[in-house]
Formats: sequence, structure tokens, C-alpha cells
Amino acid sequence: MERYEVVAHSGETRVMSRSGIRPRRNRKTPVLRSLIRETTLHASDLIAPMFLVSGSERREPIASMPGQSRVSVDLAVTDAEQLVGLGVPAVLLFGIPDHKDARGSAAYDAQAPVQQAVRALKSRFHDDLLVITDVCLCEYTDHGHCGILNGTVDGMRRPQVPDGYLLNDETLELLGRIANSHAESGVDLVAPSGMVDGMVGSIRLALDGAGFESVGIIAYSVKYRSAFYGPFRDAAAGTPSSGDRASHQMDPANAREALREAQLDVSEGADMLMVKPGLAYLDIVRRLRERIPGIPLVAYNVSGEYAMIKAAASAGWLDERPVVLEILTGMRRAGADAIITYHAADVATWLREESR
Ligand code: PBG
Repeated sequence: MERYEVVAHSGETRVMSRSGIRPRRNRKTPVLRSLIRETTLHASDLIAPMFLVSGSERREPIASMPGQSRVSVDLAVTDAEQLVGLGVPAVLLFGIPDHKDARGSAAYDAQAPVQQAVRALKSRFHDDLLVITDVCLCEYTDHGHCGILNGTVDGMRRPQVPDGYLLNDETLELLGRIANSHAESGVDLVAPSGMVDGMVGSIRLALDGAGFESVGIIAYSVKYRSAFYGPFRDAAAGTPSSGDRASHQMDPANAREALREAQLDVSEGADMLMVKPGLAYLDIVRRLRERIPGIPLVAYNVSGEYAMIKAAASAGWLDERPVVLEILTGMRRAGADAIITYHAADVATWLREESR
């Protein structure tokens, strides 16, 4: 680099690059910085998860997720009122059933909390709120796994695989039933999260076969077997009673495989793709954004990411607001169009304050 010396007003000699290029010129004032800001974060980019239970006027705080609760349908409507008022356009519903069994039959019960909440939210907010449902069996099975396990349901035993192995194709049939029962309640998009092979295609077929062509699918295309789901399992009581999800969720060490999963979901008819968790997998978000540019991409800022920040903030070790905004901006910068986050209401509140 060529250098030259300049004499400053003070009389001292300084060394500057001859190019005269000073990136700091573009950072001089707030309006200038905002004029050229590359990445934006708006309330309209956010999806707020909700955990639903039966009954009414129930709000049960989730210990490992301070600020989050399991709520009954009436209070979910109250919470959604606040979200819509803040400009958050979407919710993602999870159900915690009263009754669990080996087939997860409460998952496709028209009177279960999720189905009731979909009806209540759509009839209250219509097109002002997108209602998305998680389609999975792990909250509904008595063993806490995401589908039918070999040897646990009469007439469903496959000798080629060990007992306790998640049966793929038997599970697909149930996922189609669950999606249709959410669609009958009026859901906008379903989000199958089990990482069962062929789930997007078979749910698409089930929906179309029942006349629900306009119901969309957000595929949890790239869902890793992550320890960051710990607090969620506490919230949804969906911890596997034994074993783990390594035979269906992806190995955190793999990135090329993520592309394969995502491409498959696109070919099976997914309307949006999702990467989950978000924070430790921003390279995957970037890769999908670049390699599969034509489809909207969602990142899931999961329960463990939320819990870490809440814990550090309550100890006074981190300043919650700027840290959360920085992380979510990082997800958008990596290429996520939308973000599922438990911070949604807080972020929307902060963004509103900043725009004043
Ligand atoms: C499965 C599901 C899980 C999460 C979302 N959907 C749990 C799991 O796969 O073990 C985790 C979400 C989070 O941690 O915030 N129904």
C-alpha cells in the first residue's frame, strides 16, 4: 500500500493511505447509516410460536422459557390481539394434549386445542393473521417420538428394522390426517417438523385430495438433531422417553446433506423452506438462500437460543434488547426472509419504539 504523510491541524504528522478511501465516511450520521443499511428487520418478518392447552383462562409459565406460557384458546386469542396490534403477522401453533397414546391420536382430533385455536384465531382475525400449525406427533405420542415406533401399535411391526425404530411410511399416513384436520379448521399453512422422508409430498397429496389446495406447506427441510430444543421439550412435554431423534433429524456436522433435504422438499411441493435451529446454522441459511433462490426461506430461532439470552440477561451479563436485535438481524443478513422467534412480541415493541 502506498503511504503518504499529512500534517494535521495540530502540527503532528500522521500516516494515511494514498487512496483516500475512508469507509467511515459512510457511517458518519444516523440518517446516512440508515440510508445505506443493507438488512432490515421488521415486525412483519416475524412468526410467534404459541403453546396451546385445553380449557379456558389457563396461562402456565414455562420455567425454562421466561416470558413464555402454555395458554388455553381464549388467552391465545388475547395474545394474538397484542401481536396483531404490534404488526406481527403470523403465529405458529403447538398443542399439548390431555391424552397421549402410541398413535398420537389427539393430533388429529377436531376438538383438540390446536384445532380449536385455529378456528378461534381465523374467525377473529381473518386475513390479518396467518395461522401456521406444527404438524408432528412428538407432543402427542406417549413415548414422545415423532411418529409410530416399530412394535408399539398392533399390526405394525416390520421385521427389517429394530423395535423402537420410527416407521416412516406408517407415520406419513398420520401426518396427512393431521394436516387435513388442521386444514378443516381453517389453517393457512402447515409446518411438518418430523423429518420423516416424503412428508411434504404425502401431506400435499392429502391436502389436495381433500380440496385444500390453497393450504401451504412450510417444510422444516433442514432440521438438525439439536440440543437447543431442550426448553421446548420441557414446554411441550415432548421429550422422548428413551433414545433420541438421530435416526430422522439431521447430523449437526452435515451441510451438503442439507441441500439434498431442501431440494427434495422443493420437488415434493413445499411452499417455503425452513432451517432449524438458526443461530448455529447460519451457514446453512446462507447456502440455501444462494443455491435455492426461488423459494422463501424461514429460520427458526429456537427455544434454547431464547433461553440462553434470557438467562444471561437476567444475570445482568448481556443486554437483552440489542443482543436479540443483533441475532435476528444476523439471520436476516444470512438470507432468512422470515424468522420464527419467541422474542416476536418484544422485538415488535422495540422496533416500534425505535421508529418513533
Ligand atoms: C417437533 C418440534 C420440536 C421443535 C419444534 N417442533 C421439538 C423437537 O424436534 O424435538 C423445537 C422448537 C424449539 O426448540 O423452539 N414437533
